[in-house]
Amino acid sequence: MNIVVLGAQWGDEGKGKIIDFLAEGAAVVVRYQGGNNAGHTVVIDGKKFALRMVPSGILHKGKKCVIGNGLVIDPKALLEELKYLKKNGIYTGSNLLVSENTNVILPYHKLLDTLNESKSKKGKIGTTSRGIGPAYMDKMGRTGIRMVDLLNARVLKEKLERNLQFKNYVLKNYYRVKPFNKNVLFKEYLGYGKKLKRYIVNTFPFLYEQVLLDKNILFEGAQGTMLDIDFGTYPFVTSSNSTSGGACTGSGVGPNAINKIIGVTKAYTTRVGEGPFPSELSDDFGAMLRKKGNEYGVNTGRPRRCGWFDAVVGRYSAMVNGLTGLAVTKLDVLSGIKELKICVAYNINGKIVKDFPADMDNLAAAKPVYKTVKGWDEDLTRINKYSELPGNTKKYLKEIEKLTGVNISILSIGPERSQTFILDKIWKR
Ligand code: GDP
Ligand code: IMO
Ligand code: MG
Repeated sequence: MNIVVLGAQWGDEGKGKIIDFLAEGAAVVVRYQGGNNAGHTVVIDGKKFALRMVPSGILHKGKKCVIGNGLVIDPKALLEELKYLKKNGIYTGSNLLVSENTNVILPYHKLLDTLNESKSKKGKIGTTSRGIGPAYMDKMGRTGIRMVDLLNARVLKEKLERNLQFKNYVLKNYYRVKPFNKNVLFKEYLGYGKKLKRYIVNTFPFLYEQVLLDKNILFEGAQGTMLDIDFGTYPFVTSSNSTSGGACTGSGVGPNAINKIIGVTKAYTTRVGEGPFPSELSDDFGAMLRKKGNEYGVNTGRPRRCGWFDAVVGRYSAMVNGLTGLAVTKLDVLSGIKELKICVAYNINGKIVKDFPADMDNLAAAKPVYKTVKGWDEDLTRINKYSELPGNTKKYLKEIEKLTGVNISILSIGPERSQTFILDKIWKR
């Protein structure tokens, strides 16, 4: 049984928590896209772990964790993450595999990311400044340096030379900043290759064997559907396919091996960075949700924009991912709110629209059409059965299921691993 777990909104839905919860029943956990723009939180017995590139399954002993070919990896940041895990008593040895094909983030990618953002006020995306976009540009432009290249001095030197010719020209003449020294970068990145050598392998035969042996594989998405390069609120997106298709292209596992696709969604909506967000609450109520939900980025510490649950996004996400189930998180945060709103459609210049618009001007003009449902006062954080939920909570969840057309498979009522419960037989076909 192989399950993709991905973000159904704009990221930070609680994917790390859900992956950690499901990892108990899995043999392998695979990250398939993104890089250290991701920040996945797992809380176990009050201890908080933040993962960026390493799959959230790493916190379970005996699980294999794979960094797939679809990621872009900053080797320095990966070494720091491994050090952080080690310091916290987490083993990262033969349980971690990094695909040889994975592209590498270099310092010029990070610098260009920051410079691009500071140069264009109007076109600012609000990136995490980790160099993600520029690294994927090189990958698609076929000039990227891959993990396997860090193990081959000749190729690394040649590729660096070729890349730096152009990058340094742009840095000097367009941005008017200091260029990079080829020899310094060569030495540094060859050094990272040496340090990471034990992890860099051909992950495709390993994953194929796991599929043939019918082992349970979890695919851990980063970011979310609305940040996907093809399906998101372009250009206010990340540079990879965070949707379910990315699980195949970013790991080398064929689509026929995927059995279920779980969309993780908050019981409300958040977003970090720029770009339209129709159900956003830019008022005191939004600030209250931010405070109650502790909505600050794991990676950058930025406050997250907060708003009501958007069923237009939910339906769209169900469609482009082929969702087979939902994992609804942060339901506990909504306790004590008298009336809850769910965005069921957009009013775009007088026209009622139920399909997510591609035109950013239309999306920016979209006024949410709300359905109001009754809230509940009860604290949900100790509940561990669906039947124990207050009646109005059940009604709210039923609305989400009805409006998205997807059944809820998992509920999360707090950040702890234990504050999670399953509503269906997740590991059964
Ligand atoms: P990810 O990027 O999708 O893995 O999500 P993040 O880790 O960036 O953000 C989710 C935040 O919500 C983290 O601080 C989690 O500890 C927290 N969290 C996850 N599920 C719940 C939940 O059900 N209730 C509450 N209160 N917090 C949660
Ligand atoms: P996880 O995996 C939320 C957002 C950034 C910015 C846009 C592009 O923790 O859910 P990038 O650095 O990728 O070029 O930034 O995407 N973004 C995220 N927002 N959660 C994430 O990851 C994100 N990763 C990127 O804020 O708007
Ligand atoms: Mg996150």
